[in-house]
Amino acid sequence: MSSGPLRAALLGVLLAIVAGVAFSLLDRPIEQPIAFNHRLHVEDLGSDCTDCHLYAMTGVRATIPNVEVCADCHAEAQTDSEEEALLVAHIASGDPIPWRKLYWVPDHVYFSHRRHTAIGGIECETCHGPMGEASEPMPRPFVKVTMNGCMKCHEQNGTSNDCLLCHK
Ligand code: HEC
Ligand code: HEC
Ligand code: HEC
Ligand code: HEC
Ligand code: HEC
Repeated sequence: MSSGPLRAALLGVLLAIVAGVAFSLLDRPIEQPIAFNHRLHVEDLGSDCTDCHLYAMTGVRATIPNVEVCADCHAEAQTDSEEEALLVAHIASGDPIPWRKLYWVPDHVYFSHRRHTAIGGIECETCHGPMGEASEPMPRPFVKVTMNGCMKCHEQNGTSNDCLLCHK
């Protein structure tokens, strides 16, 4: 007669394992094809965010730079770094670097960089953390994108939280 609670307990354990596996798959660290160093380019060399993320002030998507942007300075190797050698090979062949994204919203959500940066006057750091200080690619976003996060800031700024503002 005690098999009911036992079965429920076993089911609970099973569900916890399934949830744990699903969570660890979702939360797997992201590895980039080249160990790009933000700190070196931003703090030491003085590049602006928009020298590389060309549309962060003017477009919907900031965009991750590819070989054309890097080629301005890396058509020929400047160091004996193996990571730079990988980059120089990409530039020579024209093969795009398969950068992986850390930040994204689902297709049903509309987000515009220009609206938040140029018009809203919000700094990159508010949504992306101190990216300019990262000396290697981040395995996870500094700041997770969530509906709650969007809505909290809209509330603080007196911006609409109408479902159809963000969900098109
Ligand atoms: C405005 C010029 C400029 C641009 C544009 C630029 N870099 Fe660099 N990068 C440099 C310089 C200068 C160095 C060498 C610094 C030194 O002497 O240590 C360097 C070094 C590197 C290195 C090797 C050193 C290290 O420790 O990381 C890599 C890898 C690298 N850059 C990747 C990139 C990638 C990827 C892009 C394009 C997204 C890019 N760079 C765009 C100027 C630039
Ligand atoms: C020299 C070019 C360069 C400059 C300057 C630069 N970035 Fe980047 N950024 C990259 C590259 C290449 C990647 C992809 C590799 C990585 O994640 O490190 C990237 C990735 C990012 C990402 C993660 C995007 C995603 O979804 O994967 C953010 C956010 C970002 N940069 C913000 C900034 C900010 C903020 C600044 C200015 C403080 C800045 N970057 C300056 C080249 C640059
Ligand atoms: C109000 C929050 C917010 C601000 C401010 C902001 N971003 Fe983003 N950023 C996001 C979100 C959300 C995404 C994911 C968007 C998507 O999937 O279309 C993103 C994506 C990115 C990406 C990934 C590539 C892409 O285009 O999707 C880069 C690079 C990036 N941002 C750079 C920047 C830079 C540089 C600045 C400052 C000039 C900046 N962002 C300001 C929220 C912000
Ligand atoms: C740090 C504060 C902040 C965060 C985080 C933020 N927003 Fe906003 N958002 C604003 C402000 C401020 C405005 C109004 C800008 C203006 O028009 O002056 C705005 C405006 C908007 C608009 C209206 C723009 C238009 O074109 O009609 C949309 C849509 C929007 N945000 C979507 C989002 C989404 C989606 C997220 C999360 C991924 C997000 N926002 C996160 C501050 C924020
Ligand atoms: C300021 C922007 C914003 C507003 C306003 C907003 N959402 Fe969202 N919503 C998002 C973002 C970003 C995501 C994706 C990230 C996430 O799931 O947290 C999302 C995800 C969702 C999802 C999918 C959740 C999931 O688990 O897959 C649903 C359903 C949803 N929103 C419904 C609504 C409803 C209903 C409203 C109005 C009461 C609303 N949203 C208002 C930004 C917004």
